[in-house]
Parts: sequence; C-alpha cells; structure tokens
Amino acid sequence: MPSNQKNTPMSIHSEIRKVTTHNLSEMKLRGEKIAMLTSYDYSMAKLVDEAGIDVILVGDSASNVMAGNETTLPITLNHMIYHGTSVVKATKRAMVVIDLPFGTYQSDSHKALVSAIRVMKETAADAIKIEGGAEIIESVHRILSAGIPIMGHLGLIPQSIHKFGTYAVRAKEEAEAEKLLKDAKLLEEAGCFAIVLEKIPAKVGKLVAEELKIPVIGIGAGSEVDGQVLVIHDMLGITQQFSPKFLRRYHNLATEIKGAVKNYINDVKLQDFPNEKEQY
Ligand code: KIV
Repeated sequence: MPSNQKNTPMSIHSEIRKVTTHNLSEMKLRGEKIAMLTSYDYSMAKLVDEAGIDVILVGDSASNVMAGNETTLPITLNHMIYHGTSVVKATKRAMVVIDLPFGTYQSDSHKALVSAIRVMKETAADAIKIEGGAEIIESVHRILSAGIPIMGHLGLIPQSIHKFGTYAVRAKEEAEAEKLLKDAKLLEEAGCFAIVLEKIPAKVGKLVAEELKIPVIGIGAGSEVDGQVLVIHDMLGITQQFSPKFLRRYHNLATEIKGAVKNYINDVKLQDFPNEKEQY
C-alpha cells in the first residue's frame, strides 16, 4: 500500500463502478466495514460520493436537518422524492437508499408497494428503507415481490417516537432485545438485503450481526456490527444542539460557516467587497 494511504485504508471495493446489494454482502463476508452517510441534496451528495462512501441514505432525517421539524413524521413522499432525485443525479458510485416516510407503508401493503414504486420510478434510486419488524412484514413481502430491495431499520425507530415517548437507548431489557433479534431474522428471511440498528447496546448489535448473514449497519449500535451510518449534518458539526454519545464530529462546520458569513458581512459593510478585480 502506498505510504500516503496508510491512515486512510482504501475500500476493497474502491474499484467497483457502482455499489450493489451483492457488493455489500461480499463486504460482510470479507469483514470489510460498510461506510454509510446521509445526504439530501445534489452538492453534498456529489462530495460524499466522490470521497468514496459505500452507501448514501436519503434519510427522512431530512425532516429535521433540512426542514427544521422536531420529528421525522411531517416529511412527505413528494419531499423524499425531491431529495432523492437530487442525490441520485449527483451519485456515480455509491448505492442510494431512500427512506419511505411515515404514513406511506404502515397502513396496508398495497399502499406500501405504490409508495416504493413511486420512489424507485421517480428517483432512480437503488433501494428503499423502512422502519419496523413483524408489524410491517406484509408490506416488506409485497415490496420485495416487486423486485425492490429493502433495507430494514430496527431499534430506535424515529417514526414511532410518539409510541416510545423518548429518544433513549432501546433494547436494554431482555424482552425488547429478544424481539429485536426476532424481527431482524424475520426481515432477513423475507429477503431484506441489510438492516440498520439504531441506538441499542453494543452487545445486542454484536449479537444481531453475528446471527444474520445480511449486513447490519449501526448508528449507536457499537463497533461490532458490519458498518456504520451517521447523519452528515451531525458528523460535519453543522447541527449544534444534537450530541448523543454515539456521534463523532469530524468537523465544526457551524463555526466555520458562521465565521465566513461574518467576514462577508464585514467586507460588504466596509465596502471592501467587491474590489476592483471582482467587478466588470
Ligand atoms: O433518517 C435517517 O437519517 C436514518 C438514519 C439515522 C439511519 O434513518
């Protein structure tokens, strides 16, 4: 390996042209961790894709970080399709997965299929993600029967926040951990290609990853799962108030952006901008 790559190991799959569900299961087999991040717009997705991410999730966290809502519940299918279309246009290599938003798949499996087909047809994404286990299994079967790949999502499932009443760690009690493992197996048997586990004890994350053949991608699920996902605005330090234990901030963009904006304001007020070279 060239010396300049020592601290940034290249993905085994850095050569592949487009990441597929097959590549992800190969990565699990080889023990190569899967790196996934959210993106919601063209410019950010282009940077994230060019940096070599494996999977881009157009998460319904767009409801929080893009639209300023307190929960993920208000975002609509049309909003998700808008974000998804922009991300797909920017992406050459990463697999693009789009969240089906609250209310578009829980009520009945026909509605779920129609929602999933709209996302796939109108965005050209590679897969969809939905939250829940046994409660939504009919929808899972119906969507899969149309050939649409599904990523499951268990543990803390933000679309059910009003049922939980809190964003605290899930599956700490044995009964809930057992149900989570059962749900994960159900999703795998149905044919989901991967599962996200959110905010659960590391030992539960490890157990699920060991028991399942499909990749398990964690967010606050410890280090012994098959990959990690973070919300890009959180890991870049654009969002400031949100700081759960599992979050590692790789930058403090909020301070940098505010600093740049303050400099711009000063320059305009002091008539330093534009200077002679910056005008026609
Ligand atoms: O919507 C989202 O960003 C997500 C991740 C937190 C996994 O579902």
